[in-house]
Amino acid sequence: PLVDIREMAAQAAAEKVGLGAFNVVLLEFAAAQVDAAERVNRPIILQLSQNAVKYHGGRLAPLGKALLALAEEATVPVAVHLDHAEDVDLCRAAVDLGFNSVMYDGSHLDDDTNRETTAKVVEFCHAADVAVEAELGEVGGKNGVHDPSARTNPEDAAKFVADTGVDLLAVAVGSSHAMTTRGAVLDTDLISAIRDAVPVPLVLHGSSGVSDEGMVAAIKAGMTKINVSTHLNVGFTGVVREVLAADEKLVDPRKYIGPGRTHVTDEVARLLSLYASK
Ligand code: G3H
Ligand code: ZN
Repeated sequence: PLVDIREMAAQAAAEKVGLGAFNVVLLEFAAAQVDAAERVNRPIILQLSQNAVKYHGGRLAPLGKALLALAEEATVPVAVHLDHAEDVDLCRAAVDLGFNSVMYDGSHLDDDTNRETTAKVVEFCHAADVAVEAELGEVGGKNGVHDPSARTNPEDAAKFVADTGVDLLAVAVGSSHAMTTRGAVLDTDLISAIRDAVPVPLVLHGSSGVSDEGMVAAIKAGMTKINVSTHLNVGFTGVVREVLAADEKLVDPRKYIGPGRTHVTDEVARLLSLYASK
């Protein structure tokens, strides 16, 4: 069923385990992710980014409704989340459609504007009982350039949460978006310091660049929601490329997307188990 991300995150934080949040770039990914969560009996977050909405012709509803239907039918808790929305109207549209979680990403704005706009998004989301994630200290790599240098200050983070009322906070601790290799080194001391200073669950963006061991250490230090996108794209595309290369006559998309989807299911199941390990 569709379950409140705040409940899921509070439980994960109390158990000191991670909560997997996976980006949906194609509908096949969402089905694979739910299958994986059911296989290992873990909650999961399906997230659709503003960029993915743009790829789907700017249409939120067709894919969004499919994600909500998958959540309703699932035997495990599922949250449906709008990821990296810089457009406040898109946040409103997601709330109207039934998404139960929204990330407003104002990290590119000056600090005052980020604070004010985030607080505005919190107001209308909370009125509809929808959770809000925001970002403080911009996690690099959104423009395709790997940049792990940003750091979130723990006191700033605590003030930001108090000023805006957000339910989850994305912080910069050494990861960077869209890495296709897993060499990012996270600052686990900083994670612990932010964890101690901030009353809401923390979100790790750009997790594709982090090794299995790095991820387990980050969760132990206090990370809760673990966002993964590129890592699944790397695996999916690798499988599709192999299948296509092996048979030049292949034309039925199910014959190459299918094996790619199987890879996504297996890898998400593996990661969900890894995040839940104690
Ligand atoms: O919000 C999405 C994540 O931060 C994904 O980042 O593609 O580097 O895994 P990634
Ligand atoms: Zn992100």
